[in-house]
Amino acid sequence: MSERALEVVEFLLTAHLYTDDRTLDENDLPPRYRRVFWAETGEEDEGATGGIERPLVVTDSIARKATGVEHPWDAISDLMFTQREDFSGRLSLTQPEMALEWFVKRADHDRLVTNPTIAKSVEERDDVDVTHEEARDQTRPIHADRVWIDSLLDEYFDDEDDAEMLDLVQVRAPEEIEMTLDDLVLTSDQEGEIHKLMKAIEHREYLAQIGLREIGKILFVGPPGTGKTTVSRALAHELGLPFVEVKLSMITSQYLGETAKNVEKTFEVAKRLSPCILFIDEFDSVAKTRRSDEHAALKRAVNTLLKSIDDISLIRDEVILIGATNHPDQLDSAAWRRFDEIVNFPKPDYGMRADILRVITNRMDIDEFDPEAIADVTEGLTGSDLRLVLREAVLEALTEERMELTQDDLLEAVADFEERDNLKNLDMMSDSSELVAGSDDGHDHDHDHDHSHEHEGETQKDAGAAQ
Ligand SMILES: Nc1ncnc2c1ncn2[C@@H]1O[C@H](COP(=O)(O)OP(=O)(O)OP(=O)(O)O)[C@@H](O)[C@H]1O
Ligand SMILES: [Mg+2]
Repeated sequence: MSERALEVVEFLLTAHLYTDDRTLDENDLPPRYRRVFWAETGEEDEGATGGIERPLVVTDSIARKATGVEHPWDAISDLMFTQREDFSGRLSLTQPEMALEWFVKRADHDRLVTNPTIAKSVEERDDVDVTHEEARDQTRPIHADRVWIDSLLDEYFDDEDDAEMLDLVQVRAPEEIEMTLDDLVLTSDQEGEIHKLMKAIEHREYLAQIGLREIGKILFVGPPGTGKTTVSRALAHELGLPFVEVKLSMITSQYLGETAKNVEKTFEVAKRLSPCILFIDEFDSVAKTRRSDEHAALKRAVNTLLKSIDDISLIRDEVILIGATNHPDQLDSAAWRRFDEIVNFPKPDYGMRADILRVITNRMDIDEFDPEAIADVTEGLTGSDLRLVLREAVLEALTEERMELTQDDLLEAVADFEERDNLKNLDMMSDSSELVAGSDDGHDHDHDHDHSHEHEGETQKDAGAAQ
């Protein structure tokens, strides 16, 4: 009860203080509040852009959206400093000072630090240990919000041709990314590279000063289902950056004549949304098109791509470029050398498999769970395969109305998975040992793993559908 009241009072207070203090801007509002006050303010010639306009007026339904409290007015109606106007339904504070006292007495540091608007009005007080600056630092800036991203995209893609582009480029706000780095099991090499990248971003001014500009272009290399896409997204989440995702094969296959233009647009979108992460998947499809140079438009597109990569910079444009490929052997040196770091995504080894199993089951009930024993019998399986195995086990158990799994369920699901494997592609396991973590040098791109790729591509799709 009082928790709900606290939520609603915080919201009302924020709306009140923000309306009054003109020096506050959108970044002083917690993201969950910005969303509900965001309004399209279309100007005839400029195209529609959005914004947050004062005064911030709160009604029951707005408060519900912002706080998640089902009946906001009921939660606060017995407090003496609140009121609801009968006619308009507007909720407000009759005595804001009293409301602030009430709130400060109940809100801890963790709460205050997520609300720069309130932090600013209380930072001078002795009974409060939060500063406005601290709260601003911890609050995600508005350029990472969905509403902001959408308004920029609307502005940029205003005619029909452009709208087609939006089918090819997917933009995610960091808040929409569910998997975080904590949900992923990484090799120490991967952890090191990610850490390095984060440090580089943090100190990019210094790097610019000393003339080190070749950073922020990374290529993820590894078989399907080893976490390339997921790690990239998790990075966007971790850094609070928008995630711009494009599959190169889509750009090159669908609108042949438009390809070069599409490539350019993709990079422009990234620059407009910057700071952001631009993720280019299926990077090898360039190499292929380059080899089969039947079409002049394709050649042009490839050159455009290479040039665009050269032109974009973390230091200047605040765009991090991550490429991903399953077929490093098909990538020619022109594309290869444009990346300043190569990160290997091997199939997980025994220890990683056990850890992945622990991570993906951490909210499940499993009797006599022994992840090591399962890791023992799943050599060659990727993280994505393991997810699929778990899904099968869960669904099997559900057919018997069981919500608790046993170790035997999992072992059976592994056996089923392998049986399906054998049916689909008999020589899948043949050379997979070379892709296991620890058995290569991190730059292994000489082998041709086409068979296993085809096969895993399919299980990968299944895994995607399961999520
Ligand atoms: N190292 C890992 N730790 C935890 N989960 C993992 C790991 N690797 C893969 N997974 C799981 O497998 C799923 C698929 O991984 P993801 O799509 O990132 O693979 P990918 O390397 O991008 O594959 P593709 O080359 O087919 O695009 C993820 O959602 C994740 O749940
Ligand atoms: Mg992927």
